[in-house]
Amino acid sequence: MRAAHPVAYPLLASVRRPVVRVPGLGVVVTDASLLRAVLMDTQTFSKHGPGAPSDLWTPVLGDRVLLNMEGAEHLELRRRLAPLFTPAAVGELVDRMLGPSYTRLRDRLAAGESVDLVAEARRGASAAIGALVGLDEDVVDDRLFRRIASVTGAVRLSRPRMTDAQIAHAKAVMADLTGHARAAWRAGDPATVPGRMRELGLGEEESLGAVGAFVLTGTETLVAYLPRLVALLHDTGWLGRLAADRTHLDAAVAEGLRVTTPSPVMLRSTVAAGRIGSDDGGGVGVRPGDRVVLATFLANRVAPGFDPVGNPAANLRQLWFGAGSHFCLGAPLAMAQIRGTVGAVLDAAASRGAFEASAAPLVVERRRVARGVLIPGYRELVLGPSRAV
Ligand code: HEM
Repeated sequence: MRAAHPVAYPLLASVRRPVVRVPGLGVVVTDASLLRAVLMDTQTFSKHGPGAPSDLWTPVLGDRVLLNMEGAEHLELRRRLAPLFTPAAVGELVDRMLGPSYTRLRDRLAAGESVDLVAEARRGASAAIGALVGLDEDVVDDRLFRRIASVTGAVRLSRPRMTDAQIAHAKAVMADLTGHARAAWRAGDPATVPGRMRELGLGEEESLGAVGAFVLTGTETLVAYLPRLVALLHDTGWLGRLAADRTHLDAAVAEGLRVTTPSPVMLRSTVAAGRIGSDDGGGVGVRPGDRVVLATFLANRVAPGFDPVGNPAANLRQLWFGAGSHFCLGAPLAMAQIRGTVGAVLDAAASRGAFEASAAPLVVERRRVARGVLIPGYRELVLGPSRAV
C-alpha cells in the first residue's frame, strides 16, 4: 500500500477514529458498520456528485456506466446484466477463456519451472478483457492490460478529477476497446459478451458502457490480488497446508481478500444533510457536496494477521466487494478466477511430493512491489522450486 500510495496511505492509516473529517480529503470512514451504513443509505450518499466516482469516470465513459449511476435506472441495468454473472455463465466463460492457461500454469510449476505470477495474472486479465470486449484470443496480449493500467494509474485520492490530458488518453484507450465491443454487439454473436448483451435486450451504448465498467473495475483488482494471495499463503505457511488439505481454502481466499482489500477505498458524494455515526459526539455531520472516503482497507482490519481457521472475514459479509446496490457485479467472475489460479498453484504444489505443513514445495523466489499504481500489488512475484536467497 505504501509503495502504491506513499502520501495517501500513511495519511489514512494514521486515522484512529471510526469517522473523522480530514481537511482536503473529505469525511473518512474507517469502521466496518459505519461504512456499510453509508453504502446502504443511497438517499444521503451517491456515486454521482462532487468527489464521487462520477467525477472521475463520466468524462471518460459517459454517464450510464453502472459505477456512476443511481436509483431505478441503475437497478434496471444491473437486473438486465445479471444473467451474464450467474454461476453457470461465469463457469462457462472462465473454463473457455482461462481453463487452458490454468492447466499450463499447473504443469509448468509441477515441472519445476519458475513462474512470474504477475505476468500470469496479467495474461489472464487480458484474456478476460478480450472475452468481454469480443476480441479473438490470439490477438490478446498483456499490452491490453498495460493500456488499461495507464488509465487507472492516473487516479489519486488527492485528485478527484483527471486532467484534460489524462481524460484524452483514457478516452483513446477506451475507444479502442469499445470499438471491438461495438463490432461484436453489431455482429450479435451470443458467444461474445457484447453479442450476449444484445440478446439480453441491452442497447448498443448501454452495452459499451457496461463493458467499460467491467474493464476498469475488474482488471487491476484481480491482477493485484492473485499474486498477493499466493505470497500471503506462502509467507504464512498456508501454501503447504492447503496443498495437503483444502478444508480451509474458501476461508483462506476470504481472509486474503480481507487482509489485502484489493479495492482499498470507495468514494461517495453527500447529496442530503445527514450524520455518519452516533449523535453523542462520536459522529460527523455531513452536508450536500461533502466527499466521503470509505477506507475499506482499514474497516477490514477487524483482527490482526491472516487466520483461515478463526476466519474473522466471515463477519464482514464480503465488505471487500462493497455492499448494497453497487455490490461488485463481477464478484462471481472474480471468485472463479481466484479459485482457478489458486487451484493450479495448489495442484502443482501437491504434485511435487509429500511435505510437512509450513514447508511448501514451491517458494517465492523473487518479489518486487509495484509503485505508482492504483491498486497495491507486486510488479513481479516469482514462484518456483528453489529456496529464496
Ligand atoms: C478481487 C477482485 C475484485 C474486487 C475486490 C472488487 C471490488 C469491488 C467493489 C468494492 C465494488 C463496489 C464499489 C463501490 O460501491 O463504490 C465493485 C463494483 C463493481 N465491480 Fe468489482 N471487484 C473485483 C473484481 C471485479 C471483476 C472481475 C469485475 C468484472 C466484471 C468487476 C466488476 C464490477 C462492476 C461492474 C462494479 C460496479 C457495480 C455497480 O456500480 O453497480 N469487479 N467491485
